[in-house]
Amino acid sequence: MIAMIFVQVYLIAAFIFGDPQALDIHRVVGRVVVGFELVVLVTALVGWWGNSRVIGMSSALFGVGALQALLAHDIGSAPRVHALHGFLALVVFVLAWFITISGWRELYRRPVSLRSSS
Ligand code: HEM
Repeated sequence: MIAMIFVQVYLIAAFIFGDPQALDIHRVVGRVVVGFELVVLVTALVGWWGNSRVIGMSSALFGVGALQALLAHDIGSAPRVHALHGFLALVVFVLAWFITISGWRELYRRPVSLRSSS
């Protein structure tokens, strides 16, 4: 997921530097990214039910991701509004990062031993 955000930034840069095909690939990969954001939300709801922190962040990721995709084309008519599409990539990155760290910590948290070590 995080790797795909890097790919998206690279692809749009390739487009800016003159590769017209890169935008088509960016659009396709972008839809896949939004699909993954939905999968993250469903996984959080199913696997981390009761963990409001992870569910909250996953909902925010999907909400921001969907808004970001809509801002590219469907929402707004001014360039400065569409530019929020690029800006929100940073928010998506931060949310995806925190979800990854939270999930990682949850999975690899060491069980607390009640016995003394001696
Ligand atoms: C998390 C990273 C990103 C994702 C998931 C993403 C996703 C998408 C998607 C799904 C579309 C197609 C929208 C549509 O056709 O309705 C799109 C188009 C576009 N994106 Fe991104 N994008 C990302 C980052 C960026 C960045 C950083 C920029 C530029 C700074 C950018 C610039 C554009 C442009 C110029 C379009 C074409 C808009 C149009 O069809 O008129 N994107 N992106």
